[in-house]
Amino acid sequence: MKTLILYSSTDGHTIKICQFLQKVIEQQGDLTTLISVEHESNINLKNFDSVVIGASIRYGKHSPLIVDFINNNTTVLDTLPNAFFSVNLVARKPEKRTPETNPYLKILLKQISWKPMEIAVFAGKLDYPRYKFRDRLMIRMIMWMTGGPTERNAVVEFTDWKQVEGFGRVIGQMTHSPYNSDMNV
Ligand SMILES: Cc1cc2nc3c(=O)[nH]c(=O)nc-3n(C[C@H](O)[C@H](O)[C@H](O)COP(=O)(O)O)c2cc1C
Repeated sequence: MKTLILYSSTDGHTIKICQFLQKVIEQQGDLTTLISVEHESNINLKNFDSVVIGASIRYGKHSPLIVDFINNNTTVLDTLPNAFFSVNLVARKPEKRTPETNPYLKILLKQISWKPMEIAVFAGKLDYPRYKFRDRLMIRMIMWMTGGPTERNAVVEFTDWKQVEGFGRVIGQMTHSPYNSDMNV
Protein backbone atom coordinates (compact mmCIF):
# COMPACT_ATOMS: atom_id res chain seq x y z
CA MET A 1 0.00 0.00 0.00
CA LYS A 2 1.32 3.45 -0.89
CA THR A 3 0.28 6.52 1.06
CA LEU A 4 0.91 10.04 -0.18
CA ILE A 5 1.51 12.67 2.49
CA LEU A 6 1.17 16.05 0.82
CA TYR A 7 1.90 19.13 2.91
CA SER A 8 2.37 22.85 3.07
CA SER A 9 4.76 24.22 5.67
CA THR A 10 6.46 27.60 6.12
CA ASP A 11 8.70 27.11 9.15
CA GLY A 12 9.05 23.34 9.09
CA HIS A 13 6.78 22.22 11.90
CA THR A 14 4.20 20.63 9.61
CA ILE A 15 7.10 18.73 7.98
CA LYS A 16 8.07 17.42 11.43
CA ILE A 17 4.48 16.25 11.97
CA CYS A 18 4.46 14.61 8.51
CA GLN A 19 7.72 12.79 9.24
CA PHE A 20 6.26 11.49 12.50
CA LEU A 21 3.11 10.33 10.68
CA GLN A 22 5.32 8.72 8.05
CA LYS A 23 7.01 6.60 10.75
CA VAL A 24 3.70 5.57 12.33
CA ILE A 25 2.20 4.63 8.95
CA GLU A 26 5.32 2.74 7.85
CA GLN A 27 5.36 0.80 11.15
CA GLN A 28 2.01 -0.56 9.98
CA GLY A 29 3.64 -1.93 6.84
CA ASP A 30 2.85 0.72 4.25
CA LEU A 31 5.09 2.77 1.98
CA THR A 32 4.82 6.54 2.18
CA THR A 33 5.80 9.40 -0.10
CA LEU A 34 6.22 12.88 1.37
CA ILE A 35 5.70 15.78 -1.04
CA SER A 36 5.61 19.53 -0.45
CA VAL A 37 2.88 21.23 -2.45
CA GLU A 38 5.25 24.20 -2.75
CA HIS A 39 7.64 21.99 -4.74
CA GLU A 40 5.21 19.82 -6.67
CA SER A 41 1.50 20.25 -7.18
CA ASN A 42 1.08 18.25 -10.37
CA ILE A 43 0.63 14.85 -8.74
CA ASN A 44 -1.26 11.88 -10.12
CA LEU A 45 -3.19 10.65 -7.10
CA LYS A 46 -4.07 7.45 -8.94
CA ASN A 47 -0.50 6.30 -8.20
CA PHE A 48 -1.41 6.07 -4.50
CA ASP A 49 -3.66 3.89 -2.35
CA SER A 50 -4.41 6.62 0.17
CA VAL A 51 -3.78 10.33 0.64
CA VAL A 52 -3.10 12.52 3.65
CA ILE A 53 -3.01 16.30 3.23
CA GLY A 54 -1.68 18.63 5.93
CA ALA A 55 -1.13 22.37 6.13
CA SER A 56 -0.28 25.03 8.67
CA ILE A 57 -2.06 28.32 9.21
CA ARG A 58 -0.47 31.65 8.47
CA TYR A 59 -2.44 34.78 9.24
CA GLY A 60 -5.72 32.93 9.32
CA LYS A 61 -5.29 30.89 6.16
CA HIS A 62 -4.18 27.53 4.86
CA SER A 63 -1.87 27.87 1.87
CA PRO A 64 -3.85 28.71 -1.30
CA LEU A 65 -1.72 26.04 -3.03
CA ILE A 66 -3.25 23.38 -0.76
CA VAL A 67 -6.77 24.72 -1.26
CA ASP A 68 -6.22 24.76 -5.06
CA PHE A 69 -4.81 21.24 -4.98
CA ILE A 70 -7.86 19.99 -3.08
CA ASN A 71 -10.26 21.77 -5.42
CA ASN A 72 -8.47 20.45 -8.51
CA ASN A 73 -8.39 16.86 -7.23
CA THR A 74 -11.65 16.41 -5.33
CA THR A 75 -13.00 13.76 -7.69
CA VAL A 76 -9.97 11.46 -7.32
CA LEU A 77 -9.61 12.21 -3.59
CA ASP A 78 -13.14 10.93 -3.11
CA THR A 79 -12.17 7.55 -4.59
CA LEU A 80 -9.33 6.93 -2.09
CA PRO A 81 -9.06 6.57 1.67
CA ASN A 82 -8.14 10.12 2.62
CA ALA A 83 -7.43 12.41 5.55
CA PHE A 84 -6.65 16.04 6.27
CA PHE A 85 -4.93 17.83 9.14
CA SER A 86 -4.39 21.45 10.05
CA VAL A 87 -1.60 22.88 12.22
CA ASN A 88 -2.11 26.13 14.09
CA LEU A 89 -1.56 27.90 17.39
CA VAL A 90 -5.20 28.47 18.21
CA ALA A 91 -5.29 24.66 18.63
CA ARG A 92 -2.93 24.95 21.63
CA LYS A 93 -6.23 25.30 23.51
CA PRO A 94 -7.76 21.80 23.62
CA GLU A 95 -11.28 23.20 23.18
CA LYS A 96 -10.16 24.61 19.78
CA ARG A 97 -8.56 21.38 18.60
CA THR A 98 -11.45 19.67 16.82
CA PRO A 99 -12.82 20.16 13.28
CA GLU A 100 -16.04 21.48 14.83
CA THR A 101 -14.33 24.04 17.09
CA ASN A 102 -11.24 25.15 15.20
CA PRO A 103 -12.06 28.35 13.26
CA TYR A 104 -9.65 27.61 10.38
CA LEU A 105 -11.02 24.12 9.81
CA LYS A 106 -14.55 25.45 9.81
CA ILE A 107 -13.64 28.01 7.13
CA LEU A 108 -11.73 25.47 5.02
CA LEU A 109 -14.56 22.94 5.06
CA LYS A 110 -16.89 25.63 3.70
CA GLN A 111 -14.35 26.53 0.98
CA ILE A 112 -14.00 23.00 -0.42
CA SER A 113 -16.43 20.31 -1.50
CA TRP A 114 -14.09 17.49 -0.43
CA LYS A 115 -15.22 15.84 2.80
CA PRO A 116 -12.10 14.22 4.26
CA MET A 117 -12.75 10.81 5.80
CA GLU A 118 -10.56 11.68 8.77
CA ILE A 119 -9.70 15.15 10.05
CA ALA A 120 -7.31 16.27 12.78
CA VAL A 121 -6.30 19.63 14.18
CA PHE A 122 -2.84 19.74 15.73
CA ALA A 123 -1.37 22.45 17.92
CA GLY A 124 1.68 23.99 16.24
CA LYS A 125 4.97 25.46 17.35
CA LEU A 126 5.68 28.97 18.56
CA ASP A 127 9.21 30.08 17.69
CA TYR A 128 9.79 33.81 18.20
CA PRO A 129 13.58 33.78 17.49
CA ARG A 130 12.85 32.35 14.06
CA TYR A 131 10.29 34.97 13.05
CA LYS A 132 10.99 38.16 11.13
CA PHE A 133 10.59 41.35 13.18
CA ARG A 134 7.08 42.20 11.97
CA ASP A 135 5.79 38.63 12.29
CA ARG A 136 7.22 38.38 15.81
CA LEU A 137 5.47 41.59 16.76
CA MET A 138 2.16 40.40 15.34
CA ILE A 139 2.30 36.93 16.89
CA ARG A 140 3.35 38.33 20.28
CA MET A 141 0.39 40.68 20.15
CA ILE A 142 -1.98 37.84 19.28
CA MET A 143 -0.48 35.72 22.08
CA TRP A 144 -0.86 38.61 24.52
CA MET A 145 -4.51 38.99 23.50
CA THR A 146 -5.22 35.26 23.81
CA GLY A 147 -3.22 34.44 26.95
CA GLY A 148 -0.27 32.69 25.24
CA PRO A 149 3.50 33.06 25.81
CA THR A 150 4.88 36.54 25.08
CA GLU A 151 8.55 36.32 26.24
CA ARG A 152 10.50 37.52 23.21
CA ASN A 153 12.69 34.40 22.98
CA ALA A 154 9.97 31.85 23.68
CA VAL A 155 10.06 28.59 21.71
CA VAL A 156 7.17 26.29 22.59
CA GLU A 157 6.07 23.15 20.81
CA PHE A 158 2.40 22.72 21.71
CA THR A 159 1.90 19.60 19.57
CA ASP A 160 0.37 16.60 21.34
CA TRP A 161 2.45 13.80 19.79
CA LYS A 162 0.13 11.13 21.21
CA GLN A 163 -2.67 12.74 19.21
CA VAL A 164 -0.49 12.67 16.06
CA GLU A 165 0.37 9.02 16.70
CA GLY A 166 -3.33 8.15 17.05
CA PHE A 167 -4.08 9.89 13.77
CA GLY A 168 -1.27 7.96 12.06
CA ARG A 169 -2.73 4.69 13.33
CA VAL A 170 -6.17 5.58 12.04
CA ILE A 171 -4.66 6.34 8.61
CA GLY A 172 -2.89 2.96 8.59
CA GLN A 173 -6.15 1.19 9.47
CA MET A 174 -8.05 3.16 6.87
CA THR A 175 -5.58 2.10 4.18
CA HIS A 176 -6.12 -1.55 5.06
CA SER A 177 -9.88 -1.38 5.50
CA PRO A 178 -12.23 -3.26 3.14
CA TYR A 179 -13.38 0.20 1.99
CA ASN A 180 -10.04 0.65 0.24
CA SER A 181 -10.14 -2.57 -1.77
CA ASP A 182 -13.79 -1.88 -2.65
CA MET A 183 -12.89 1.54 -3.98
CA ASN A 184 -10.02 0.29 -6.09
CA VAL A 185 -11.86 -2.43 -7.97
C1 LIG B 1 3.70 34.70 10.33
C2 LIG B 1 2.88 33.69 11.08
C3 LIG B 1 1.49 33.79 11.10
C4 LIG B 1 0.74 32.85 11.81
N1 LIG B 1 -0.62 32.98 11.85
C5 LIG B 1 -1.36 32.15 12.63
C6 LIG B 1 -2.76 32.33 12.75
O1 LIG B 1 -3.37 33.20 12.13
N2 LIG B 1 -3.44 31.48 13.56
C7 LIG B 1 -2.82 30.48 14.26
O2 LIG B 1 -3.48 29.76 14.99
N3 LIG B 1 -1.49 30.26 14.13
C8 LIG B 1 -0.76 31.07 13.33
N4 LIG B 1 0.59 30.88 13.21
C9 LIG B 1 1.21 29.75 13.89
C10 LIG B 1 1.55 28.60 12.93
O3 LIG B 1 0.40 28.05 12.35
C11 LIG B 1 2.33 27.55 13.72
O4 LIG B 1 3.51 28.14 14.19
C12 LIG B 1 2.67 26.31 12.92
O5 LIG B 1 3.33 25.39 13.76
C13 LIG B 1 3.54 26.65 11.73
O6 LIG B 1 3.75 25.47 10.98
P1 LIG B 1 4.84 25.42 9.81
O7 LIG B 1 6.17 25.60 10.47
O8 LIG B 1 4.68 24.11 9.21
O9 LIG B 1 4.48 26.54 8.86
C14 LIG B 1 1.38 31.80 12.51
C15 LIG B 1 2.77 31.71 12.47
C16 LIG B 1 3.52 32.64 11.77
C17 LIG B 1 5.01 32.53 11.77
